[in-house]
Amino acid sequence: MIKLEKLHKIYQLDKNTSLHALKGVTLNIKKGEIFGVIGLSGAGKSTLIRLINMLETPSSGKVIIDGEDITSYSEAKLRKVRQSIG
Ligand SMILES: Nc1ncnc2c1ncn2[C@@H]1O[C@H](COP(=O)(O)OP(=O)(O)O)[C@@H](O)[C@H]1O
Ligand SMILES: [Mg+2]
Repeated sequence: MIKLEKLHKIYQLDKNTSLHALKGVTLNIKKGEIFGVIGLSGAGKSTLIRLINMLETPSSGKVIIDGEDITSYSEAKLRKVRQSIG
């Protein structure tokens, strides 16, 4: 249902500084499963959640919702998909 494959998120803070917030997150969450994301402040929880509906774009890796890789979707298509993500 929700599949994250080797997700990386690197924030470019300025020309010379980058922050590697997510380093290869892989998850497989099945229908009906309840999944908690726990971690210290700054661990990357919000970044991870924002990647699930592509409010944030991954630096690399895939977000697969119901078998569809949404990382390559257009903004218009994403708006549609987001209507069914709570
Ligand atoms: N838009 C952003 N630009 C630059 N750095 C960010 C941005 N959002 C988050 N970060 C950095 O990424 C790391 C993870 O942040 P975040 O996902 O908000 O963690 P959490 O929700 O677990 O507190 C932190 O070091 C944070 O400062
Ligand atoms: Mg947060």
